[in-house]
Amino acid sequence: MLLEGKNAIITGAGSGVGRASALRFAEEGAKVLSADLNADSAAETAALVEAAGGTAVAHAVDVSQEDQVEAMIAAAVEHFGSLDVLYNNVGIPTPRLGAQLEDHTAADFERLFAVNVGGVFFGCKHAVVQFKAQGGGGVVLNTGSVAGLVGWGGTVYGATKGAVHQLTKAVAVEAAPHGVRVNAICPAAMPRTGFMAAGGMDLPADQLDPIEASVAATHPLGRAITAEDCAEAAVFLCSDRAMNLTGILVPVDGGYVAK
Ligand SMILES: NC(=O)c1ccc[n+]([C@@H]2O[C@H](COP(=O)([O-])OP(=O)(O)OC[C@H]3O[C@@H](n4cnc5c(N)ncnc54)[C@H](O)[C@@H]3O)[C@@H](O)[C@H]2O)c1
Repeated sequence: MLLEGKNAIITGAGSGVGRASALRFAEEGAKVLSADLNADSAAETAALVEAAGGTAVAHAVDVSQEDQVEAMIAAAVEHFGSLDVLYNNVGIPTPRLGAQLEDHTAADFERLFAVNVGGVFFGCKHAVVQFKAQGGGGVVLNTGSVAGLVGWGGTVYGATKGAVHQLTKAVAVEAAPHGVRVNAICPAAMPRTGFMAAGGMDLPADQLDPIEASVAATHPLGRAITAEDCAEAAVFLCSDRAMNLTGILVPVDGGYVAK
């Protein structure tokens, strides 16, 4: 029960890393606001959490809209009484996975930055406002990417994740005097979340096997990353066991960036 008594918001909770994290957070005792652009999938995650004996409430949000992020934090406080953890996990790929820099349009660039960086900015901002008003600190976790650490995984997408990493470190330093910790996990490729479909590659499960195998072959530990791997790291970083860890970027990558 690493997160017993914690009230947490997880964005992008309708799929992939967000859903796996919602389930693990609840298993560790957290109450979870399952937030997603897709209201149905947010509700489905909340139902899965409840069916497993946890507590969750679904909430529809577009994290690229500041007023909606502010309202999401207010909703968590209204439901649970206070906020302890905001996990800014939403991220979208380039709409045509594999696109070269010159294939990106201005609209692609603006959308990627609005969601991937804007969402994290608004989340950090309003979580810090809430934590300062409550007193007693709080935790922000962001989902970055290996693509923001090395030149892999998409140019514009990688640039958005580099910005997420920088925000993580700067907000961590600024908010530390208020007892607020801010960290990021940086996953490597996870072929089995909804991310590839969001990037225009909606492949049947059997066609994902060779992709997963080729990804695994690039990792020193020899296996591809899963949403559950990220959820485990997220639980730890949001728990009091990580009470002296802030401003860190944790690759969840089987050793990929250490090579
Ligand atoms: N899958 C990968 O290969 C990979 C690798 C590295 C990092 N990441 C990052 O991991 C995080 C989770 O991705 P995933 O693989 O679970 O993807 P996913 O597509 O399975 O889940 C993303 C969720 O975010 C939601 N979402 C999209 N736009 C939104 C918005 N504007 N407001 C609210 N919700 C929105 C989607 O509806 C979806 O439920 C993202 O930040 C992604 O960039 C993914």
